[in-house]
Amino acid sequence: MLWTSPIFWHNPPMPSMPPCATGFSANQLNFSAGPGALPEPVLKEAQEAIWALPETGVSVLGMSHRSDWFKALLEESERNLRELLAIPERYRVLFLQGGSSLQFSMIPMNFAGTAAPAAYVRSGYWSAKAIEEAGCVAPLHVAWDGSADGYRNLPASCALEIDRAAPYVHYVSNETIEGLQFAASPFVHDVPVIADMSSDFLSRPIDFERHAMLYAHAQKNVGPAGVTICVLDEALLSRIPEGLPPMLDYRTHIRHGSNYNTPPVFGIYVLNRVTRWMRDTIGGVPAMAELNRAKADHLYRTLDNLDGVIATHAARPYRSTMNASFRFRDERLNARFLESASSAGFVGLGGHRSLGGVRASLYNAVSLAAVGHLSEFLTGFCTSHA
Ligand SMILES: Cc1ncc(COP(=O)(O)O)c(C=O)c1O
Repeated sequence: MLWTSPIFWHNPPMPSMPPCATGFSANQLNFSAGPGALPEPVLKEAQEAIWALPETGVSVLGMSHRSDWFKALLEESERNLRELLAIPERYRVLFLQGGSSLQFSMIPMNFAGTAAPAAYVRSGYWSAKAIEEAGCVAPLHVAWDGSADGYRNLPASCALEIDRAAPYVHYVSNETIEGLQFAASPFVHDVPVIADMSSDFLSRPIDFERHAMLYAHAQKNVGPAGVTICVLDEALLSRIPEGLPPMLDYRTHIRHGSNYNTPPVFGIYVLNRVTRWMRDTIGGVPAMAELNRAKADHLYRTLDNLDGVIATHAARPYRSTMNASFRFRDERLNARFLESASSAGFVGLGGHRSLGGVRASLYNAVSLAAVGHLSEFLTGFCTSHA
């Protein structure tokens, strides 16, 4: 499957997107951490839909959220996600707004309860943010803290300190900034597990036996910013207290089929086309995961070969398949590399402002050919500068 996948091969650039001298278009060399690369056939279809959807003759930007067209789009999008991820029947799928950051406070508002504090794993910048924001809503307990070593490691499930009365445990499956990813979801007895999967959603299969809820904004693997996917076990719903503002109560959105107020129609449209691309072109989530593994292996092999010059941020067992964060050991080379990569047509390689260095994000739409090109460029740069 992997070797016949169209994104393994170097796709010719779309006619409307001029290639740079390398033969890759700027979209194909987009290694940005998010919003990030999207599949070019989806971008092309969206470009046409902005002018007029073939099925309605009206721009997607002017389609009513109360139209039959949008109702069918929502239904198909949910169906596609259910099929791609084998989401069990008892889980509800929602398309919300407010980004993943709104989930940081919405989750404790809905599920914190009063019996014991919720447990949070602090494994990087985004889980620390989730803790900061959830802490404004309800007391919480930090079940593990990786800050002392600058977030380079992740805990084994048995290292998590979790009170069995905790209403839930929250973790981030892929720390986008540090480039740390849980190889398998934590296994926690009796306490519902809630995951922020913003930066690895749809990149690999999800173990629903280990999760009561997960959420992910779209702007990594799924579409443009503006839509956030929440998948939650309906068993959680009985815990929601009465009296929440309706917009912040998951039950409102379930009752209204993700159409309570005006949803992000365009974002859901692109999400829908990405799910079709995943199914029809890639061949599903396991095939995508295999391809993502190959891309990450390729890049990390290159980085390891350049070990004298480059250091990766994450300890080896926790390296992310989605975001490789690294830096040149000679600090001066980081800026020089980024400048030179930008001149060569690479996009979005700068590390997050909190960490600096370099970060290559290998989201679903980044091809193995593009990763190969980046690896060659890195090797060439090191040969001439180190
Ligand atoms: C893992 C993770 N969680 C949460 C967020 C915040 O997402 P948003 O900007 O949609 O609020 C990000 C942003 O990149 C992220 O990478």
